[in-house]
Amino acid sequence: MGFSTKVGAILAAAGSAVGLGNIWRFPTETGLHGGAAFILIYIIFMLVFGAPIMLAEFTIGRHGQKDVTDSFERMSGGQRGWRLMGLMPVVAGLLVLSYYAVVCGWTLYYAFVAGVDGFGGKTAAQYVSDFQQFSSSPTQPVVWILFIMLATCAVVSFGVKKGIERSAQILMPMLFVCIAILVVCSLSLPGADRGLHFLFHPDFSEIDGSTMLSAMGQAFFSLSVGICCLCTYACYFRKDVNLFHDSLSVAVIDTLVALMAGLIIFPAVYSVPGLQPDAGPSLVFITLPNVFQQVFSGSHLLAYGFSLLFYCLLVIAAVTSSISMLEMVVAYLHEELHWSRPAASVAASAVAMLLATGCSLSFGAWADKTVFGLGMFDLFDFIVAKLLMPLGSFIMCVFLGWVADEKVVRDEVTNGGTLHTVLYPIWLFIIRYIAPIGIILVFIHEIGW
Ligand code: PFF
Repeated sequence: MGFSTKVGAILAAAGSAVGLGNIWRFPTETGLHGGAAFILIYIIFMLVFGAPIMLAEFTIGRHGQKDVTDSFERMSGGQRGWRLMGLMPVVAGLLVLSYYAVVCGWTLYYAFVAGVDGFGGKTAAQYVSDFQQFSSSPTQPVVWILFIMLATCAVVSFGVKKGIERSAQILMPMLFVCIAILVVCSLSLPGADRGLHFLFHPDFSEIDGSTMLSAMGQAFFSLSVGICCLCTYACYFRKDVNLFHDSLSVAVIDTLVALMAGLIIFPAVYSVPGLQPDAGPSLVFITLPNVFQQVFSGSHLLAYGFSLLFYCLLVIAAVTSSISMLEMVVAYLHEELHWSRPAASVAASAVAMLLATGCSLSFGAWADKTVFGLGMFDLFDFIVAKLLMPLGSFIMCVFLGWVADEKVVRDEVTNGGTLHTVLYPIWLFIIRYIAPIGIILVFIHEIGW
């Protein structure tokens, strides 16, 4: 069961990469870490680590053609110990889905509010209190998370080709156009220049150990690399897919969407009295309804139509990413343990739903239950983005650069020596030296040595 077209493969990978990581997590992290300086480091990490490691994941997966467990064994030339890497997507997939689904649920709720015309006639302070009330409720968000989980489970049960490829093909371009319109709207708000200053005038005194790790974590999270998600998808890629081209395209699209999200959110932040860029995870949910109302204040219908369209597209972008998370777990249960796809999807979704409920409660009733000062939601995010993704990326670099047979790697990356033979040595150098050493240096910097 593979993707039927070459375009389907790239769209599905882009569908996984582009999601709430760009539109919700990127502005949150940028706001928390001081703006422009963070963005600069993030872009460097995208180019130096993100895109090359994405290509590494594609290479391992496409060579294997079955699942992550088998792919690592095959690429290593039959060393069975590497099969253990097959557990990475299972653990990481469940963890990431559990907290990502919470934000997906918030987004779906906001689409609903937009649909019943619930944004109009409110003050800025009301948007803040509305969101706080909703996200801290013990039951309300859980209902919306359940809807998301059911939708994700349904698509993954049908299988990659029918479920994922088709949904990505029409919706991704629509989201892009919608975001572009919103950038223009946001830039016309009063205070937009202060937002632009925050985004594009780096203040390097803001950089500390945690900025580096956060920027690296954001680059990995945004591209879905390091936990074998793209490796799982690449198992379904056809042999004529141009891996170099696809990884670079996905990385560029993903970075553009993130930067455009920044261009929507930060000019808007400064136009809302009392709102600060470091407001954290709630930022997007408070600023966006404001932007819609302010920009389209002349036409109620436009404000209604546009906010509804935007939130619906955002839900879809979020779900194409959550699908890829569930697929990581289901592929393992299906291929390795021979469960049927529907049974595997239901079981994995049930576990994720349980964990997601805990993550949601950490914004309300469980706010005081913390480990190392982090609630369950933040703890899961920390484990995935700042530990598992860099660790997995490091292992993949060492694996492809030093363990796998170089000739096999070259053949896979260059489609048998027919594509990008000039770029290949540069990529191999990055995978062998630059990326693994860079990841270690970021950790050393974080610990403060
Ligand atoms: N890259 C996705 C986003 O930006 O929303 C999130 C994501 C998907 C992370 C899949 C990890 C993953 F395995």
